[in-house]
Amino acid sequence: MTAQLIDGNALASSVRAEVAHRVQALKARGVQPRLSIILVGENSASQVYVRSKVADSEQTGLAATLERYPAELTEAELLARIATLNADPAVHGILVQLPLPAHMNANAVIEAIAPAKDVDGFHVASAGALMVGQPGFRPCTPYGCMRMLESIGLRDLKGKHAVVIGRSNIVGKPMAMMLLAANATVTICHSGTPDLGALTRQADIVVAAVGKRKVLTADMIKPGAVVIDVGMNRDDAGKLCGDVDFAGVQAVAGWITPVPGGVGPMTRAMLLVNTLEAAESATPP
Ligand code: GUN
Repeated sequence: MTAQLIDGNALASSVRAEVAHRVQALKARGVQPRLSIILVGENSASQVYVRSKVADSEQTGLAATLERYPAELTEAELLARIATLNADPAVHGILVQLPLPAHMNANAVIEAIAPAKDVDGFHVASAGALMVGQPGFRPCTPYGCMRMLESIGLRDLKGKHAVVIGRSNIVGKPMAMMLLAANATVTICHSGTPDLGALTRQADIVVAAVGKRKVLTADMIKPGAVVIDVGMNRDDAGKLCGDVDFAGVQAVAGWITPVPGGVGPMTRAMLLVNTLEAAESATPP
């Protein structure tokens, strides 16, 4: 078997088209959806990420404001700025790019964002809402992965076993919660789980979110399984690659997401969805 590709670029492009359409509907009612992005310090990867978030927003008609602050900004100053944005009705979404400089408490900063504007979905209120099945913002990466599953007809996962490898607060844990909410049986592992393959070989869906190359190899996959690769690594030649041994796993799986062109573009697209929905929720009917 050669796995079919779940094309993140194509799917993200259709998500963006849907966002653009709904943005126009809001604008027709006099509302300009707006995302405020805060970058503290000079982290070079973060600078690339925030630039693409601004470009993606503008491409779909969302307004995005990027505020850059020096690494010496105090936590109190950052909290004061977040309080001002929380109170500004023209701002619908607030995103503080991580990592923050070491002198700041990232949790305290994230918890300062009003949950109604928490478009990253990192606030404990958002995480709690996901845990108990209430509406709230979903973290963009697992939210995008769920859309990828839906795109191949996997919406109700009753009777399916999903294995998530990775237990970060922003991918692994919320991913597991979303799969559970869709009625899957879920196993959460990490890269050090003994005999990981014994678990993944039982899985109809495997999500790899470890940040290490070749965490998942062909011998660890049930024939026909769906493999979602959240990893973003570099191979020995410096080329982007995921956590999955793509060439090997592709020969066994039924569906697989490529890296690049898989989960990454969907993560970016779901931030636009969250920002749009923040603006829709803030707009009276
Ligand atoms: N740093 C790396 N990824 C992310 C993300 O999705 N959101 C924020 N705020 N910071 C990040």
